[in-house]
Amino acid sequence: MTDQTSDERAVRFGRPTHHYTLVVAEDGRFLAGTDGGLHLTTEVSDAILWDQGPNSLTHPDTGARLNLVASGERWLLEDETGMPASCSAATGFALEHGPEHRPSEYLDHFLTHGWVVLNSIMSDGIVESLERIACTDRYKDREPNRDVRQICQDPALVRVAVEPISLWLSRQYMQTDEIRLAHTPGIGVLTPDDGARAVQGWHSDYPYHWGINAAGKVPTPSGRTVMGVQRIVCVSEYTKHRGATAFKLGSHVLDAGPPDDWGVARDTYRPGHRAEHGLPYSGPDADVIEAPAGSVILFDTRTWHRAGLNRSNEGRAAILMDTTPAYIIPYSDTSADFHAVTESDVHAELNAREQHEFQELMVHRFLGPAGPRSVIGTHAELTRRLDTPRP
Ligand SMILES: [Fe+2]
Repeated sequence: MTDQTSDERAVRFGRPTHHYTLVVAEDGRFLAGTDGGLHLTTEVSDAILWDQGPNSLTHPDTGARLNLVASGERWLLEDETGMPASCSAATGFALEHGPEHRPSEYLDHFLTHGWVVLNSIMSDGIVESLERIACTDRYKDREPNRDVRQICQDPALVRVAVEPISLWLSRQYMQTDEIRLAHTPGIGVLTPDDGARAVQGWHSDYPYHWGINAAGKVPTPSGRTVMGVQRIVCVSEYTKHRGATAFKLGSHVLDAGPPDDWGVARDTYRPGHRAEHGLPYSGPDADVIEAPAGSVILFDTRTWHRAGLNRSNEGRAAILMDTTPAYIIPYSDTSADFHAVTESDVHAELNAREQHEFQELMVHRFLGPAGPRSVIGTHAELTRRLDTPRP
């Protein structure tokens, strides 16, 4: 336990000077280049990355070059002879902000270390929309909209939830395509610390919940079976000063919770704990990932971590998106939020791939060889009945 110092090792990611472009058809499929030619796909691989020049696209692996012809807000593609490129849809393509590195490079890092940072993978337009919802950074003087569910206020939150590279990495890491969001993604704001309030202690995330005073935690090491990947989206820039999350990077391989003497969440939320024991461990054996706004931090949910301490004078916004294999019971019922999105204006702004992926992530169903695959949701009357204290 320490007092007001913050001596964690900083792992810093500066803003990248290059990022790839994703070439996206109207239905959301990606234009991929292989030695066999071009094709449209929903599959993430290195083949969907393009280098964008002023008037052209070049495929980094095949060397294929396509000329860009503006068509309203979209782009038509021509080969070098001026003929429409094969796969070139009449409705054209959107050119979307892509990752700094190849998916395969991120996967190597993730599998080796149990964490990876997709530096600045969200476009500035997405980041600005998230700031507007959060009322931080460029929108710090705005009042939050409490009348409309956060997930229905802007398509940006769903687009972040279905960001394709981080989902592909999560599926690969958990060794199953059947993954779900354990809860509805929401933007949280860490407000400036007042020097006295309870702070989050060290813990492992859902479903492990090691270090947390919760029922239903995973009782034994899970080994090669990975039961959760957390995706943190940095809406505000992540710095130590502004309360970036602290980690013990690599601790997932220990397959056990953090030590009590680091100050675990089970203890630090107890009234009076901070005054008596000080802050949770914040020394050099811990790590803080510092990254630009729009970055995604992916980590094995066994990794010990805790919220940072915001020593700045403004809020620091982030989105947590815990993804779990479909065989894990969700942390909360996501069905009402999913249904609300389908009834809102947000849904029509999503392309077919985004709509399908969001449904896959948010709708929990019984799995197995026998149908029907009923949707799993909460039961209001039974919930009320169980909440009634028994005599
Ligand atoms: Fe956590």
